[in-house]
Amino acid sequence: MPELNVITRDGTCKTIDAPADVSVMEAIRDAGFDELLALCGGCCSCATCHVYVDPAVAATLPPVTEDESDLLDGSSHRTEQSRLSCQLMMSQALSGMTVTIAPED
Ligand code: FES
Repeated sequence: MPELNVITRDGTCKTIDAPADVSVMEAIRDAGFDELLALCGGCCSCATCHVYVDPAVAATLPPVTEDESDLLDGSSHRTEQSRLSCQLMMSQALSGMTVTIAPED
């Protein structure tokens, strides 16, 4: 099963199982991280699933959509590595990726 490294806001890193074909948000949420709120449930309308992706794999991810970008623009913590984790589907190819939960807005 693919694995995902998750860095929480206090800097703790934990490796979790992240089944292929679930979103990164779902994998993080299902692993019990309560600081990733994901309030809209993955509908791309809240931005509370904001993460920073490992720069090494960022270029291999699907591009940011206009809707995703608009939501990320509402965050004062947006960086070049910002993504909405509900918009990223896990796959075997992404196994080992590291994501950092962004600060709360
Ligand atoms: S869970 Fe709401 S935008 Fe991702």
